[in-house]
Amino acid sequence: MKRIVVLISGSGSNLQAIIDACGEGRLNGQVVGVISNKADAYGLTRAATAGIATQVLSHKGFADRESYDAALVAAVNDFGADLVVLAGFMRILTPVFVGAFEGRLLNIHPSLLPKYKGLNTHQRALDAGDNEHGVSVHFVTAELDGGPVIAQAKVAVDSSDNADSLAHKVHLKEHVLYPMVCGWFVDGRLQMGEGKAWLDGQVLPPCG
Ligand code: GAR
Repeated sequence: MKRIVVLISGSGSNLQAIIDACGEGRLNGQVVGVISNKADAYGLTRAATAGIATQVLSHKGFADRESYDAALVAAVNDFGADLVVLAGFMRILTPVFVGAFEGRLLNIHPSLLPKYKGLNTHQRALDAGDNEHGVSVHFVTAELDGGPVIAQAKVAVDSSDNADSLAHKVHLKEHVLYPMVCGWFVDGRLQMGEGKAWLDGQVLPPCG
């Protein structure tokens, strides 16, 4: 059984979707550890309820991003991760972390990448007048939200939508998409190579 470590900063609804998928046999892996940079992240409660080991590693008190990331690498390695999943982990990661796990490090980002890297994606989609929005799962590279995209799901933007309603729609898509992509990885179907994502031996086309 492949060992999955999930990094969070907040609610952890994507963590919950992954835990549920493992528990129901839809994902052939086991979440063996959850690490949060925030002590009050609700996802820690979700993990504890599921009997999963947790660790809080606050970024406060570290001299720089690199030294925090080195501690984070050690924490992930302590859990013996085959796959590292960023699920609402709201930290910019340096090459110290990315280099340690590249090729087995996934992120979920609430936009149709390459659109709207960074923060406030729902409001930015509204401000741009987009009629569709969505979510991307990608391999993490040193470029922020810039690694090869594996899969996306779209939602329609209605005239009545605001940032909260869009976030809700996107979350519903995320909870299906992320366990599915994690499943591809643990089943050995998904790799990163030559800077691209590969599924079943085929290059996934770049998005955008
Ligand atoms: C998700 O919408 C995820 O896409 C986003 O944070 C939310 C976490 O929700 N991630 C980012 O914005 C990363 N840049 P959750 O804590 O309920 O899973």
